[in-house]
Amino acid sequence: MKIDILTLFPEMFQGVFTESILKRAQENEKVEINLHNFRTFSKDPHQKVDDTPYGGGAGMVLMAQPIFDCVESLRTKESKVILLTPSGKPYQQRMAYSLSKEKHLILICGHYEGFDERIRTLADLEISIGDYVLTGGEIPAMVLVDSVVRLLPDVIQEESHLADSFNDANLLDYPTYTKPRNFRGMEVPEILLSGDHQKIEAYRLQESIKKTEALRPDLLEKRD
Ligand SMILES: C[S@@+](CC[C@H](N)C(=O)[O-])C[C@H]1O[C@@H](n2cnc3c(N)ncnc32)[C@H](O)[C@@H]1O
Repeated sequence: MKIDILTLFPEMFQGVFTESILKRAQENEKVEINLHNFRTFSKDPHQKVDDTPYGGGAGMVLMAQPIFDCVESLRTKESKVILLTPSGKPYQQRMAYSLSKEKHLILICGHYEGFDERIRTLADLEISIGDYVLTGGEIPAMVLVDSVVRLLPDVIQEESHLADSFNDANLLDYPTYTKPRNFRGMEVPEILLSGDHQKIEAYRLQESIKKTEALRPDLLEKRD
């Protein structure tokens, strides 16, 4: 998979993209991630990328020209262009699964007061990471890239993300324990030490359902 990210602040991605699983996925050529500062596409003599809103109002609005030119220099028939915006479709795990099947993602990070509305015509999909407003689209882009890349083949063990919360079954993950067996009087459930894999699987499903009922009953309502 190839991911191109349009941002005015490429350095914000340092750290998140250069550590742990995202770092390994790039080193092992499971994903290629490129950061593009769309300021370099501005035709303004001072490389201006924003201006005041028509009709008045607070803040600066990102201009269409630099973002159009940058996207058009990257886009192919295989590209999916995603605009990160609070008014987009609420992001969910099943969208991460679907995006992980794509060959090429182009992510557009807004900043300041937002985008010139005409930039929306470039997008195949508009995504919001939640009902709150962040300073820019960089953190949402990091969230999206991290959640998609871990689902690519051979990035992490498939078994490990099949049991994750919010998978197709719409259940939260089951509780997990590691050594020691007794920590400050809190015991590991006996069944996990039994070696009986069928019983362990049944117990985990039951615990998943209990946890979802207690913490996210809305997810259970969505189950078939
Ligand atoms: C300060 S916000 C602009 C908010 C805009 N005035 C509004 O109310 O929708 C600047 C940029 O951050 C990004 N952003 C902020 N919150 C976001 C969210 N919840 N999901 C996705 N992107 C977000 C978008 O790219 C947005 O254009």
